[in-house]
Amino acid sequence: MVRVRRNVLHLPPGDPTLYWYGRAIEIMQTRPITDPTSWRFLAAVHDYDPNDDPFAVPGEALPSAQIQAQFWRQCQHGSWFFLPWHRMYLYIFEQIVAAAVVQAGGPQGWALPYWNYSTDLDARLLPTPFRSPNLSDNNKNYLYVEEREPLANAGEQFAPDNDVELTTALTQTIFSDPYLSNFGGPPTRFSHYGRTFGQLENTPHNAMHDAIGGQTGWMGDLRRAALDPIFWLHHANIDRLWEVWLQRNPAHHNPTSAGWLSDIPFSFYNASHEVIVLHSADVVDTTALDYRYDDTSDPLAPSTQAVQTPVQAVKTEVAMSEGIPPELVGATQDSFQVENSTTHVHVPTPLQASVRQRRANFAALAPDATQANSAAALPHVLLQVENITASGRANSYEVYVNVPPGADPEQHPELRAGRLNLFGVAEASRATDQHAGSGLSFRLDITDMYHTLSAQPGWDPDKIRLSFVPVRAWQGATVTVGRVSLFFA
Ligand code: C2O
Repeated sequence: MVRVRRNVLHLPPGDPTLYWYGRAIEIMQTRPITDPTSWRFLAAVHDYDPNDDPFAVPGEALPSAQIQAQFWRQCQHGSWFFLPWHRMYLYIFEQIVAAAVVQAGGPQGWALPYWNYSTDLDARLLPTPFRSPNLSDNNKNYLYVEEREPLANAGEQFAPDNDVELTTALTQTIFSDPYLSNFGGPPTRFSHYGRTFGQLENTPHNAMHDAIGGQTGWMGDLRRAALDPIFWLHHANIDRLWEVWLQRNPAHHNPTSAGWLSDIPFSFYNASHEVIVLHSADVVDTTALDYRYDDTSDPLAPSTQAVQTPVQAVKTEVAMSEGIPPELVGATQDSFQVENSTTHVHVPTPLQASVRQRRANFAALAPDATQANSAAALPHVLLQVENITASGRANSYEVYVNVPPGADPEQHPELRAGRLNLFGVAEASRATDQHAGSGLSFRLDITDMYHTLSAQPGWDPDKIRLSFVPVRAWQGATVTVGRVSLFFA
């Protein structure tokens, strides 16, 4: 039997899916944290910190250190495993909920709905069944948690357009790349707190975590996010968007290397308390996992776009894998802080002429000189914002390039380079076994904008000025940016 995951906003009146979800949560929340099918164990599979567990009971038994090491704190972020790992996680979660639904007296075959918040303003409101502490019969509503952005629970708008925009992610031509902007994240090994994100993970994934979590709510924190029932509908949508990306263009495909497909095993407990071990290769086909989405159509337009891009996309990928590595053109010297008001910074680019010349010389020697020459004349231009650290939850920023002094950046969408969503920045700023606390880094592809700007009269390649505009009026932790750099690739 294939489960069909449906849009939560289009469930017909009287549809019992969310009723049974609530009943299942009630059952799962009564199970102790040592039970792998409990609500708390499942959230700890994502991430766990005993000091940050709102359900902690002093002196309670936790799973053994060995079980924790194998099954807890597993979420893959800033990595090409972000999508496959969360797909595995949803898959076992859905089965555990479905079994609890049956235990509660419900039907077989419960399927997790998804929340597609990107269609219009109404879709961006927190779905109604999640907003109120009580059901109409006054019983507790298990879909509600208080620890969210208050506007979300109030049924008001809480997420700006750029939190839910899909164009950046869905128009990426490659799934993964160590340097270039990509859809699914950079190649990594096991990566619990990765340092740089694929575009789908950045927006809408990270953006909506921050938006729903607000300044203190669970969704804004990796260690508590999965305690919020809306987490799972958010992730079903992200998982669906992976299918959308693959289907909207025949040139889009998943990584084919063993490093992604089969080298790294991930362990879970299933609904029968059995250990199952999955690799990315096991989850690339959702129908092999007995589920599919009711809608994977392309939100970015029907028309000709999907037909025109394949050739270009293939070329880009080939050109890159055989090409010259990205070269640094310039960077800021000292770290700086960005505040809760717009911050400007100048990026010197002393090497831009020599790098461009060297790439042109190199390209002239390439076998396919025409193609390579045009790549050298119009290199990919990458703006990197590196080693962003903060000691706590921090605001996110829009980054703009060369907004005229005194002008309002938001009036210049054509100068917007992209979004820095700082979901997870506190975790990434702490030194751990894997990382030295170097924070988050973002790679914004500004190729088109750069070439437009550089074609204008009076262009001075050394007058690159960035504006960091906070997304919300949060008084978050102070954010330090290690460096901003410009690369030609
Ligand atoms: Cu592992 Cu949405 O987070």
